[in-house]
Amino acid sequence: GKKVRIHHLRELKERGEPWPMLTAYDMYTAELFDEAGIPVLLVGDSAANNVFGYDTSLPVTVEELLPLVRGVTRAVRRALVVADLPFGSYQLSPEQALATSVRFMKEGRAHAVKLEGGSRFAPHVEAITGAGVPVMGHIGFTPQSEHNLGGYRVQGRGAAGEELLADALALQAAGAFAVVMEMVPAEVAKRITGELRIPTVGIGAGPDCDAQVLVWQDMAGLRRGRAPRFVRRYADVAGVLSAAATAFADEVRRGEFPAPEHAFQ
Ligand code: KIV
Ligand code: NA
Repeated sequence: GKKVRIHHLRELKERGEPWPMLTAYDMYTAELFDEAGIPVLLVGDSAANNVFGYDTSLPVTVEELLPLVRGVTRAVRRALVVADLPFGSYQLSPEQALATSVRFMKEGRAHAVKLEGGSRFAPHVEAITGAGVPVMGHIGFTPQSEHNLGGYRVQGRGAAGEELLADALALQAAGAFAVVMEMVPAEVAKRITGELRIPTVGIGAGPDCDAQVLVWQDMAGLRRGRAPRFVRRYADVAGVLSAAATAFADEVRRGEFPAPEHAFQ
């Protein structure tokens, strides 16, 4: 298959064809999702929660994320791989944002980067895209700012909807190729999607975004417990893995594994 390019995503928007995006943090999932026809894979800083076991996305570092990005980019044939810039690796200046992006492109072999923030980050987006690196924006609820936003809450209600539109337009003007909108009222997301030339990617932003993204462990039911409202579980991977581990343990304890065919004579 042909490599997914950012102009293909723009063409899908123009044709009104919604497209899917998933996170991936390793080789096997990246390979499976690529073969399943997911055009864009995000190595999210949500690896903080879903790989490293932190309780927020704030502690995860560039050094922790880079090897995950390398694993994902090595595994895909078609998918566009977006590397999330972690907290503290781009906010200080446009120069820092560019320097960190260069590391994800050179050392991680990513195809694009993503950062959180609206108009205030337009100069950062401009610096990165100016160097030839595609940037995906991320507005609405931005997990790296959870302490300032007062926890996981819907953003852009009422008058804040206009600010969100201004943020999205500023990112587009700065050269972003797409914008994630997280936990935004469906009507606001629909309006912004209509105003932008570049695709919007929704998560908890209703059905009218140009694309939809989910964290794969949420989508496939590996993460247990109560999922956010915007998640649909398409499988019970936790159940499958748990049953496999239990069956293996039982067979070892009963002396049923390994069988003769697993042994070398
Ligand atoms: O890190 C992440 O998983 C994300 C997506 C939810 C958009 O930023
Ligand atoms: Na993220």
